[in-house]
Amino acid sequence: MSNQILVTGGTGFIGSHTVVELQNSGYDVVIVDNLSNSKIEVLDQIEEITGIKPKFEQFDLTDKNKLAGFFEKYSNLDAIIHFAASKAVGESVEKPLMYYHNNLNSLMNIMQCMNDFDVNNLVFSSSCTVYGQPEKLPVTEQTPRKEAESPYGNTKSICEDIIRDTVYANSKLKGIALRYFNPIGAHETAKIGELPLGIPNNLIPFLTQTVAGIREELSVFGDDYNTPDGSAIRDYIHVVDLAKAHVVAIERLLENKNQKAYEYFNVGTGNGVSVLEIIESFERATREKVPYKIVDRRAGDIEKIYADTSLANDELGWEAKSTLDETLHSAWKWQKHIMA
Ligand code: UD1
Repeated sequence: MSNQILVTGGTGFIGSHTVVELQNSGYDVVIVDNLSNSKIEVLDQIEEITGIKPKFEQFDLTDKNKLAGFFEKYSNLDAIIHFAASKAVGESVEKPLMYYHNNLNSLMNIMQCMNDFDVNNLVFSSSCTVYGQPEKLPVTEQTPRKEAESPYGNTKSICEDIIRDTVYANSKLKGIALRYFNPIGAHETAKIGELPLGIPNNLIPFLTQTVAGIREELSVFGDDYNTPDGSAIRDYIHVVDLAKAHVVAIERLLENKNQKAYEYFNVGTGNGVSVLEIIESFERATREKVPYKIVDRRAGDIEKIYADTSLANDELGWEAKSTLDETLHSAWKWQKHIMA
């Protein structure tokens, strides 16, 4: 019998790509999602790619009783990958209680059920936001975490602490937090990808919508940063490479290859890329022109961050494979697909 994995938030952007990679690796997947920021049709899209429709239950993870009922029904779970969370930085500043309520209670309910139902392996969706603006680049896992810039970022940091403390209090539990850099792109089939609600906040969906004619112009937030071309630097990782990191993290837990009960890894490419370099790479990869203008810096943005990925490379035996051009090409293919 294949191992059964619960994927919370499995119809979302990173979740859906991870479900595909898990199913392709032979895992039996059950998704729990409240569909607050995703569509049920994603299940059919996943089936088109993998030939298997994942099991699906729709409810909110902040509902303790529903979650306990779920654990009773699915009594053979081997591990959990917890993606489900609110993730808009700006919204979290306006609605901090909603963010703390949703992101913290969901995790605590899951971990309570792990204790109660003897499910012992957890992979958690964390973020490089826990580093703030680091003093030294690239950031390693030893780089100290900083006070979060937003309630959203703070929930990621607090969730890491909750996992660490809960894992150390129960000798059977094991957890891995993956600190994602900037996930972008879409599956090569263009059957799944990012579906932003309303006007996108993130760079790549805004860029592809601009090139598609939905938005007039991309605003480049700042060209006066202390970087070679003045625009801000991030580490953009293809979502399929990121999805594969979850599969190896699950294997590590199930095969007891982890060094410590609680571990955390940077998941990026190791390359720092500026906003202007993104535009250049997109234009090269797609032969489309990106209309843009330079505007003021966006409040709360950091200047530059990119990962040292040696720990993930050495310990997980994982590395990002896609080039930036390939990744941006996949994002454009997806944008054209959703408009067709
Ligand atoms: C942020 C969060 C990250 C979160 C992610 C997804 C921080 C430090 N990072 O990433 O944790 O997971 O959002 O919601 O809080 N840009 C433009 N024009 C645009 C949009 C963006 O120039 O229209 C620039 C930004 O200034 C930034 C880069 O593009 O330099 C990437 O921005 P974005 O895609 O929003 O991601 P982050 O802010 O890095």
